[in-house]
Amino acid sequence: MTFRYLFTSLALSAPSTVLAAECAQSPGKVLELCADVADGRATYEVRRLGKLVLAPARLGLAFAGEPAPRYAAITNVVRTTSDTQWEQPWGEQRLIRDHHRELALTLHGDTPLTRQVRVTFRLFDDGIGFRYAYPGIAPEQAVAVVADHTQFRPLGPYQAWWYEGLGQERDEYLYTQTDARRITLAETPLTLKGDNGLYLSFHEAALVDFPSMLLAGDGSGRMTARLMPWPDGTLAKKTGPFTTPWRTVLIGTSAGALADSRIELNLNEPNTLGNVDWVKPGKYVGIWWEMHLNRSTWASGTKHGATTANVEHYMDFAARYGFGGVLVEGWNKGWDGYWAREGDKFSFTQSYPDFDLKAITDYGRAKKVKLIGHHETGGAVENYERQLDDAMRLYRTYGVGVVKTGYVRLSGDIVDASGGREWFAGQYMVRHTLKVAQTAARYRIAIDAHEPVKDTGLRRTWPNMISREGARGQEYNAWAHPTNPPEHMTVLPFTRLLGGPMDFTPGIFDIPRSGAPVNDRVQSTLATQLAEYVVVYSPVQMAADLPENYEKNLDAFQFIRDVPTDWETSITLQGEIGDNVVVARQQRGGRDWYLGAITDEQARTLRQPLSFLPAGKRFEAQIYADGAAADYRTNPLALAISKRIVTRADTLTLALAPGGGQAIRFRALD
Ligand code: NOJ
Ligand code: CA
Repeated sequence: MTFRYLFTSLALSAPSTVLAAECAQSPGKVLELCADVADGRATYEVRRLGKLVLAPARLGLAFAGEPAPRYAAITNVVRTTSDTQWEQPWGEQRLIRDHHRELALTLHGDTPLTRQVRVTFRLFDDGIGFRYAYPGIAPEQAVAVVADHTQFRPLGPYQAWWYEGLGQERDEYLYTQTDARRITLAETPLTLKGDNGLYLSFHEAALVDFPSMLLAGDGSGRMTARLMPWPDGTLAKKTGPFTTPWRTVLIGTSAGALADSRIELNLNEPNTLGNVDWVKPGKYVGIWWEMHLNRSTWASGTKHGATTANVEHYMDFAARYGFGGVLVEGWNKGWDGYWAREGDKFSFTQSYPDFDLKAITDYGRAKKVKLIGHHETGGAVENYERQLDDAMRLYRTYGVGVVKTGYVRLSGDIVDASGGREWFAGQYMVRHTLKVAQTAARYRIAIDAHEPVKDTGLRRTWPNMISREGARGQEYNAWAHPTNPPEHMTVLPFTRLLGGPMDFTPGIFDIPRSGAPVNDRVQSTLATQLAEYVVVYSPVQMAADLPENYEKNLDAFQFIRDVPTDWETSITLQGEIGDNVVVARQQRGGRDWYLGAITDEQARTLRQPLSFLPAGKRFEAQIYADGAAADYRTNPLALAISKRIVTRADTLTLALAPGGGQAIRFRALD
């Protein structure tokens, strides 16, 4: 690991008032941020290459028992520059450069708790982050945050891709595209595209022991932070001194620039787990899609999916085709009632009698296939926490290294220890998420959380937080009306996926599903299902379909067998939010490259120069393209597999069918 550090510091020690605004520029002078205190308000504004992008907007929190603070002055200013590089144990990119300027201001407020408020801004060339610290609040003093005044004021007309925050289904919604002024309450990452050619994304980093942030619009384009409250209306319960998560704004001139920004990871703390060799990216199959299709059940009985015999069948398949894991849902007691409301009945240590944990894991060991564990909580968090240690210990005993968790419960209806009803990503659930990850880490287990608190880059600090769901995933293509339209896969890379890896579970081959209407089944071509393995980054990737469907089409399946889940580097080559996306990634620990391209419901022909490939090397491009007349509505399975030799001097023409895509493996020849 290379390490460079450049440190310059200028401290103006406590003048009584700083009258002029305090400004700082990003390292390449692309962005400039100025903060100011005037008329009792602290504000910040951001320019890009001299042009105002974010108009002056408010900063700061308010506390219970105090009026909203008024700020009198900036009392201290510290500027630093940092240029370092760090290595991810696994990820979409191995080496990450963190090059930023920091502007740390101390504000003087007029209430007891805001006498000393530190606002730390970090400026990167592709965006900014800022957070608050309250160093003046005494240790052990309990305080309650009751308002977050943080605002964002993008200037000029913008389009936004968003869904209504605080919905019952958490983050599992399709996005709508509207004028940004029509945002009422949006989840983050919230992505905007401007008439000015700029792309913005608002999110947060390092969400630890704090409620997650939504953004409320007021009809003017201005957005104010809205924190998911506790049942009593308090936003955050803290003791002094404390620091908030970072609020982030990515600013780029293409949609791909947002996707390739590493600001969120850079704003998280370094790995606290030390050597995490035991966190292993990989591919898995599982007893999962068959239940979503209602061919078998999570519940016990004649259709029970998680039987020892069925697991062994999947393990045979996994071993035959080189998959390291088999996920098994419905193995434990508690699925027989209305489990999404009766999660208290879940046991995380007692199996159904037809599931023999020891026999299965012995069988898997002989075949080098691991069981992937499953803890569906039904949102009964207290029940899960009571069993957490025992549950992880049991899985550890049987060699399980990854556990998928789940929180299927209507948001706002998760019952806490005092009987209060919690949102899915308030401070209570944020605390729970970390508790699960830390407990799992003690047993060398990685967590793949479904129905999660949104990802804010915590995988840097706790690399066993290996993946999450947190969007409308493949499961909706089994039973939702309507299923996910093609456009969804071209929105996710520039919205949800900016937050981090997603366990989308791609790879459905039986797209026609006995002639089901298109709105009731997967709405894509087969090539798109392959392309998703490259486009949707996740270190744990499922081959979600039934083994028999893969065995009917081993030629197409070859791509899923080949594609890695851990990358040396990743580049978003082209794309427009809601239209199309092309991503290339280089295998980590190998020389091959992979490309995934996806379009929405429109056919598109994209020219793609291969200039990302290394100079002087030849590659065999193994191309999985939409076949002639492929169309997600009428002919989804038409797939054309071809091979040709290419170098970085070549340009490929990617012909994408309606709802189509293309997946390419570039096998290194030299
Ligand atoms: C929702 C998850 O997203 C899905 O993958 C899982 O099968 C069900 N919950 C049951 O736990
Ligand atoms: Ca889900």
